Amino acid sequence: MALGICRAVLITGCNRGIGLGLVKGFLSRSPSPDLVLATCRNPDQAQELQHLKKQHQNLRILQLDVVCENSIKKVVQETEALVGEQGLNCLINNAGINRLATLDSVTAQDMRTIYETNTVAQLMVSKAFLPLLRKAACQDVVMGIHRAAIINVSSRSASMQLFCQYNKTEEVYPYRIAKTALNMLTCCLAADLVSDGILCISLDPGWVKTDMGGSKAPLQLQECIPGILDVLANVREKDHGAFLDWTGEEIPW
Ligand SMILES: NC(=O)c1ccc[n+]([C@@H]2O[C@H](COP(=O)([O-])OP(=O)(O)OC[C@H]3O[C@@H](n4cnc5c(N)ncnc54)[C@H](OP(=O)(O)O)[C@@H]3O)[C@@H](O)[C@H]2O)c1
Repeated sequence: MALGICRAVLITGCNRGIGLGLVKGFLSRSPSPDLVLATCRNPDQAQELQHLKKQHQNLRILQLDVVCENSIKKVVQETEALVGEQGLNCLINNAGINRLATLDSVTAQDMRTIYETNTVAQLMVSKAFLPLLRKAACQDVVMGIHRAAIINVSSRSASMQLFCQYNKTEEVYPYRIAKTALNMLTCCLAADLVSDGILCISLDPGWVKTDMGGSKAPLQLQECIPGILDVLANVREKDHGAFLDWTGEEIPW
């Protein structure tokens, strides 16, 4: 497989927002991956994905609730049947949630819920797909998404260093803390998976107009998705374990 071109990619949380944007982006790339595995909680209700499936033979829609162990197990089996001995090249942990919570309003339940979806799930999903990522990693030597990669969709707001410069808490206590923990997961995975040749990064998609990003966000999906896809196509060994934004700039941890 040529550098930067991914044969099989799986993305979580694809029925709307950035996940749906990434699916559309991969499908309109030339060449497009042989398999774009778009996962979401409720495929029957994912109208845009179902519409896209009619036009793109390389798109498969699979059910995945990232906080449900059985759902993860099942999607790994379904993916294995689709990718075979060539394995899975690129896992994009995109699904995430946010909830407004200040120091005054935040509850232990908010913290648990957001941590489960934005941090624990990324670890469990990545762990479950490791055998398929390792299969793909065996088939090349140069690191990149053409070989094997885990992309954790994080947020600039998780940067400890930027936070210390600007000292602004904003009303997202659980989200920020969970995304900072997700960044540590990227570092841990990068350390453990370097010998397998599986590239791991945290990626900030930018502040984008989606249900989560809201209407005040400066970026449209049409602007950031091509940027994200270019960054993914160009990540190599030098980027292993890095925190990059949608333009490819490194963000301090
Ligand atoms: N938008 C921004 O400005 C921005 C900035 C920085 C980082 N991010 C990150 O980018 C990622 C995507 O954000 P977005 O803006 O596209 O958000 P969004 O529009 O709210 O979409 C979130 C997606 O995640 C899915 N999801 C949530 N919980 C899930 C679960 N348990 N299992 C499977 N899927 C689940 C949702 O599915 P349902 O429809 O079933 O709920 C939906 O498809 C997130 O990780 C977010 O933190 C976004």
